[in-house]
Amino acid sequence: MKNVKAIIFDAYGTLFDVNSAAEKCKDKIGDKWEGFANFWRTTQLEYTWLRSLMKRHKDFWQITEDSLDKSMKAFKIDPSMKNELLNLYKVLSPFKEVPETLKILKEKNFKLAILSNGTPSLLNQLVKSNNLDNLFDDLFSIEKVGVYKPDSKVYDIPIKKYEIKKSEVAFLSANTWDVSGGGNYGFNAIWVNRNNNIFDNLDYKPNNEIKNLSEIIAII
Ligand code: LAC
Repeated sequence: MKNVKAIIFDAYGTLFDVNSAAEKCKDKIGDKWEGFANFWRTTQLEYTWLRSLMKRHKDFWQITEDSLDKSMKAFKIDPSMKNELLNLYKVLSPFKEVPETLKILKEKNFKLAILSNGTPSLLNQLVKSNNLDNLFDDLFSIEKVGVYKPDSKVYDIPIKKYEIKKSEVAFLSANTWDVSGGGNYGFNAIWVNRNNNIFDNLDYKPNNEIKNLSEIIAII
């Protein structure tokens, strides 16, 4: 990949494991923890898309709570667990290769940033609680434009700040729809395909697919 100046990462599911909150409660939730975690995540994303289409914005933390309420009812989870799950969502763990990979990329002098649906305060807490705060140049939140991914206004945020071309951005996401969004926008989108999933049919196929973040070192 030539002429890349900035490497921009999606946060949830790409750097941080969204299932780790429910997983940390699996003794209390039981075997259904993974189905519950996936349902919560899917509902949360649906709410971002629906609110953008309805033009009724609520921030990602409120959406996370709204989607948790529905998911807890759907999976008959004891309501007393709500605060524990929400608190764990604020300090999600990174995937294991993430800290080391970010350090290597930082030493290569790329601009490194997060571009996420998360609020500025959520993103700050996530990187601070995992000691990753000194590795990023910027934590870009969609709150700046008040609409969720994959609206192109979101992908414009780093382009405007860094005054670089779309083709000078490597954009990494584990979320296929976010790869499609960033790729259709004009980024070099790289799919972090951790679970051997099938890609979307949304007018963009990424040139690069990696199994975990560390594989980016070889292609950047
Ligand atoms: C984010 C979601 C899409 O971090 O994972 O923006």
